[in-house]
Amino acid sequence: VSSPTFPTIPPRIDFSVSAKTTTLDQAVTLLVLPVVDDDGQIRVEGGREIATETGINVERLLEQAAGGEPAHTGVITQLPVLDQPDGFPKLRSIMLLGVDEGTPEQIRRAAAVLARASRGHGDVVIRMPGSEDGQLSAVIEGMVLGSFELTVRQDRLPPVASRVWLVRPSVPALEAEVIPRAIAAAHAAWHARRLATMPSNIKSPEWLADEVVRLLEDTPVTVTRFDDEQLRADGFGGIVAVGQGSSTPPTLLKLEYQPKSSPKRLRGKHVVLVGKGITFDTGGLSIKPAESMSNMKRDMTGAAVVASVMSALGELECQVRVTALLPIAENAVSGSASRPGDVITHYGGRTTEITNTDAEGRLVLADALAYAVDQLKPSTVIDIATLTGGAKVALGTRIGALFSTSDELAVALDNAGQDAGEPLWRLPLSGEYRGKLHSSVADAVNSSGGPPAITAALFLKSFVGDTEWAHLDIASVGDAEEDRFEWTKGPTGFGVRTILRWLTQFSEPRPNSDQRSEK
Ligand code: BES
Ligand code: MN
Ligand code: ZN
Repeated sequence: VSSPTFPTIPPRIDFSVSAKTTTLDQAVTLLVLPVVDDDGQIRVEGGREIATETGINVERLLEQAAGGEPAHTGVITQLPVLDQPDGFPKLRSIMLLGVDEGTPEQIRRAAAVLARASRGHGDVVIRMPGSEDGQLSAVIEGMVLGSFELTVRQDRLPPVASRVWLVRPSVPALEAEVIPRAIAAAHAAWHARRLATMPSNIKSPEWLADEVVRLLEDTPVTVTRFDDEQLRADGFGGIVAVGQGSSTPPTLLKLEYQPKSSPKRLRGKHVVLVGKGITFDTGGLSIKPAESMSNMKRDMTGAAVVASVMSALGELECQVRVTALLPIAENAVSGSASRPGDVITHYGGRTTEITNTDAEGRLVLADALAYAVDQLKPSTVIDIATLTGGAKVALGTRIGALFSTSDELAVALDNAGQDAGEPLWRLPLSGEYRGKLHSSVADAVNSSGGPPAITAALFLKSFVGDTEWAHLDIASVGDAEEDRFEWTKGPTGFGVRTILRWLTQFSEPRPNSDQRSEK
């Protein structure tokens, strides 16, 4: 059966910084000016300089924009240019872009809207509303994320700009680092979204594993593949049980990153990331109703997020040792599928009674967590998974669920999530519901009554021993219902930028977060 070929990710947008608006490439067709709300005073940032440099009277432009709320984040007022000013022989339009107070978050959001609105406009000059590096990263992340598109439709959207100039008053030497880092982080999220978009007639476990290998080709990350036979031999009973109903066998990937250099204080640190990689979740014999199954090609989002994080560690010069485990399987229905009531043995010997074959994510994660703790001696383990519909019931579709055995780790991840625009909310690993997992024939059941997100987390907790651990249940946020700022309709790649921020914060002092807007 022939399947269409989906594009890989497009060439990166070429971002550069300039101190002046006019000394730029003559081919620029779109000029973007930020509108800020300065304690109730609405103005175009740097308006006077622009007037001097270009002869464009921005105050008059702002009057023409009257009516709406031009400073609100992401509001765009488009004005055609009839008389080209000096230095812009090809200029066709000016967009006034609302950025509110100009915090990094507001800028990231506005830039994402801008990326979509500026499709087909050609090369762009964006006047920055300030000179902070955080604002520079925000524009880049917003534009790259907001322009996500992956389709085999024949009527594709017009392209976003291939070159973007960012104009800001001062040009510190830091830019050489800030720009490539922001691009690397945003593109990592693109990769995760791409993998989550792929339909499961293409995305078998083998296909996904091949793509991860390809993604990591030119990076310092090394890959080890465990095939079905090896998984059986080594006792990965959870991955085998979930994958055995599919005509495409399961696999486990181990991805290893060693920093080139790291300061003494980080040398003992070893982070293990685990991502759920179910390439399609029918529910198995405990089959899902049609509506719940329709988007289950995305049930490998955790694995995609982790693989994408790994792909960016080299570029971001992460100074911590990181190993990733991706258990990948299809949860299918067939004569060889696991049955309710089956009892399995996980890696390391714990047993589980499968009371519901649709609670498959925790079965594959359990093996990986047990292996991590037993073989890799990590200082911290973080798993990320589209694990329970309960996370969505609890938190809606904009906030991810966070569980942790460590207050310090929970706070650090929560902060990283806020900075990244991927908000998390901590839920309790409460012993109150421990009894719900009781089985009379095995160490635990995989599903029972009780709050689903919490009991799933409690199930996993038994496999991490005393190791510091956090669990991110992203079933709530893996998918966006509509275009909303940097989240384009469809997969969000939620978690990529949070984990990258958390992993790279160890090597840098935490940036000043005073500018955060209220959540
Ligand atoms: N992959 C699903 C969870 C999910 C639901 C992800 C909605 C994204 C959107 C998971 O494997 C699952 O089926 N969970 C069950 C658990 C239950 C059987 C205990 C659920 O949430 O209903
Ligand atoms: Mn399921
Ligand atoms: Zn699932």
